[in-house]
Amino acid sequence: MSLTLPVGVERRRFDGRERLATRGEPVYGEPQDADGWRAWDAGRSKLGAMLELEMDVGLDGGDGVLYLGAASGTTVSHVADFAGPTYAVEFAPRPTRDLLSVAESRPNLFPLLKDARDPETYAHVVEGDLDCVVQDVATRGQATVALRNRQFLAPDGRLLAAIKARSEDVLDDPETVFEDALDELREGYEILETRRLDRFHDDHLAVVAEPRADAADPR
Ligand SMILES: C[S@@+](CC[C@H](N)C(=O)[O-])C[C@H]1O[C@@H](n2cnc3c(N)ncnc32)[C@H](O)[C@@H]1O
Repeated sequence: MSLTLPVGVERRRFDGRERLATRGEPVYGEPQDADGWRAWDAGRSKLGAMLELEMDVGLDGGDGVLYLGAASGTTVSHVADFAGPTYAVEFAPRPTRDLLSVAESRPNLFPLLKDARDPETYAHVVEGDLDCVVQDVATRGQATVALRNRQFLAPDGRLLAAIKARSEDVLDDPETVFEDALDELREGYEILETRRLDRFHDDHLAVVAEPRADAADPR
């Protein structure tokens, strides 16, 4: 476990309570302090929850990031506040419109209206050797999405994935779903750490992994 937050993420006091925060334009009604820091709500963000749980995410200020499942930009806006180039993939047009507004004040944030299951459609835009792929796609086949997007990671890069059990199978036991997802992920990644996020997000497993150098090309 690491107690170190990425450079650009701090614990600040809001309404008498210490919370994670980044510095940037507010996006979802979160409180902002007089110095421009805005609270990062871990209840609305799996990556925020991973940081609250002190997982060793290996993400740092200035890092290049591919974010899969950006939705309206709640979490990716915080990432872009401290990271370097941040490519944000979302396949639903409506949230992507909101994401475009979020990017207006963040010149390092690049929204892409694309399907994360089909990375060849954005491979010409997204740079290679990225430090981090953050994945929060509510879709069946989450491990397959992570394997297909492994190509963008540097050899020592990190996958930070939130696996949602109910997106794979509404009826199956979440532990079984997670074990199946981890087995598939191991085809292309070494799993470094896993944590249930239930304190913040029901039936989600957070995974920190790095690409396996000896893995075959993704399907
Ligand atoms: C739980 S929401 C993401 C929330 C967001 N990560 C945040 O914390 O602000 C999941 C998102 O994944 C998107 N999604 C699902 N399947 C996708 C796919 N194949 N490609 C791109 N986006 C996808 C959905 O449209 C939805 O916006």
